[in-house]
Amino acid sequence: MRRVMVVGGGGREHALAWKLRQSPRLGELFVAPGNAGTAALATNLDIRANDIDGLVAAAKEHRVELVIVGPEEPLARGLADRLQHEGIAVYGPSKDGARIEASKGWARQLCARYGIPHPAFAVFSDWRDARSYIMSLSRPPVVKADGLAGGKGSFVCRSKEEALEVVERLMRQEALGEAGRTVVVEERLEGPEVSAHAFTDGRNTIPMPMACDYKRLLDGDEGPNTGGMGAYSPAYWLDEITERAIHERVTEAVVQALAQEGVQYKGTLYPGLMITPKGPMVLEFNCRFGDPEAQVLLPRLKGDLLEICWAVANGSLEGVEVEWAPEACVGVVMASGGYPDEYQVGLPIYGLASAQGEGVIIFHAGTALADDGRTVLTAGGRVVTVVAVASTISEARAKAYYAVQHIHFSRCHYRKDIAAPSQRAATGGE
Ligand code: AMP
Ligand code: GLY
Repeated sequence: MRRVMVVGGGGREHALAWKLRQSPRLGELFVAPGNAGTAALATNLDIRANDIDGLVAAAKEHRVELVIVGPEEPLARGLADRLQHEGIAVYGPSKDGARIEASKGWARQLCARYGIPHPAFAVFSDWRDARSYIMSLSRPPVVKADGLAGGKGSFVCRSKEEALEVVERLMRQEALGEAGRTVVVEERLEGPEVSAHAFTDGRNTIPMPMACDYKRLLDGDEGPNTGGMGAYSPAYWLDEITERAIHERVTEAVVQALAQEGVQYKGTLYPGLMITPKGPMVLEFNCRFGDPEAQVLLPRLKGDLLEICWAVANGSLEGVEVEWAPEACVGVVMASGGYPDEYQVGLPIYGLASAQGEGVIIFHAGTALADDGRTVLTAGGRVVTVVAVASTISEARAKAYYAVQHIHFSRCHYRKDIAAPSQRAATGGE
């Protein structure tokens, strides 16, 4: 029986804890810091996900054998290296491996060296060079902060002037601090987007089904970017040949490239791709599960997540069978009014119990238990992901929105068009 710790406190981590709980091999489960949802499945530890010293100390104190890391930041700060040094198995890459997400310039250069399909790009650490490059372009580019910016570091510019302003804000005014001192300027691509996840132990790679997420706050892909307002899986509009090409030419190719560079990588590799007329191209890499993608992928996983994570962490993924249910899964994020900017917390959430039903799972994100130990309060921007599983996307969508109607909290906001036919068409479907 394994003692396991999950790091993080969002919907993704609730989904990980929920799936781990189904394993006959699971002993004690800890989540740091967790939320009101994980409290029902595990022991929550009051440690922030980027408190590396605190996490290492807690893992030792609780004799944890395997740590599964949800978010990117602790990985980029070297949590996996520290835990390994203590002899604790980790699902999540080393600090070097996490650079694939933590430095967009480094990731682009890796793609260029190994022929992994990517848009034309250039990396700059001097604003004057970035300016003259942008002036020389014939079309407005995409400008990205090199470092981690919580999803706020990419700017798809409508004009070259806008691109120059972004360079001014990031590089001279340091609007995103250290993260934006180096920028990547790249060709703007067109096409539907897809999230391709895979398990890898650094040698073997097992693909997960495709998923699609919705990054913008409002219906019709309007409004600011968020962490993600909903998702669905599978990406039924994507043909099998393209799916295989993504796996071979991107995911497996990157794992081989990292190994060749001597970079240790164990965990989830999640490239975000655009399906362009010239084929799939990498927009970015993530060194972890997507949120809310994890919430629509893990309910489709038939096997034992603990067994898979253990094999990944110990480099023994070869021969492990991973099966997926053919059913479709749709997840709708319910967020606090004002998110992704200012929002209120501590508001009671009603209807969580009555929203539950056959094939419906409510994954908590920004939630906390009140002092009475029963009332669930809002505690973050994204509050819950309501997930439904059914035989088709349309059925899963209807079921998820039926459940959403039961849940109320003051100033709640959610998108009405997650996995909607018109929206699916807009992203390349039906
Ligand atoms: P990223 O932070 O790299 O994931 O980018 C965030 C979003 O910006 C993506 O989901 C795309 O919608 C858009 N984007 C990023 N790179 C490009 C690109 N080269 N061309 C067009 N859109 C892009
Ligand atoms: N859903 C996008 C992400 O997790 O990066």
